[in-house]
Amino acid sequence: TFVVIENCIKCKYTDCVEVCPVDCFHEGPNFLVIDPEECIDCTLCEPECPAEAIVPEDDIPEGQEAFLELNAELSRQWPVITTRKEAPPDAEEWDGKPDKLKYLER
Ligand code: SF4
Ligand code: F3S
Repeated sequence: TFVVIENCIKCKYTDCVEVCPVDCFHEGPNFLVIDPEECIDCTLCEPECPAEAIVPEDDIPEGQEAFLELNAELSRQWPVITTRKEAPPDAEEWDGKPDKLKYLER
């Protein structure tokens, strides 16, 4: 499966959702996740993310291992998103900021 990692938080560009052939993205207030039970590893979403926040599960950056379980957990709670929407106005400011996990809204 592919996994959405920390840099999506507060960036949420949503370019990723349009290319997924099996609609596995789920949307929360300031973060998206991939449903690991739906993802078919097609790789299409990975290059679409301007924040480079999508990685294969065997390539999760050190320290972000918790995002594997977070994607699974939150995809069971949040609704599917299939249409791109405006990113938050301050998305660019947050792109690349460290330690954003504490800002994750549920
Ligand atoms: Fe969807 Fe393919 Fe990305 Fe998996 S790898 S989330 S199937 S676009
Ligand atoms: Fe997040 Fe990147 Fe998609 S910032 S919403 S994973 S395009």
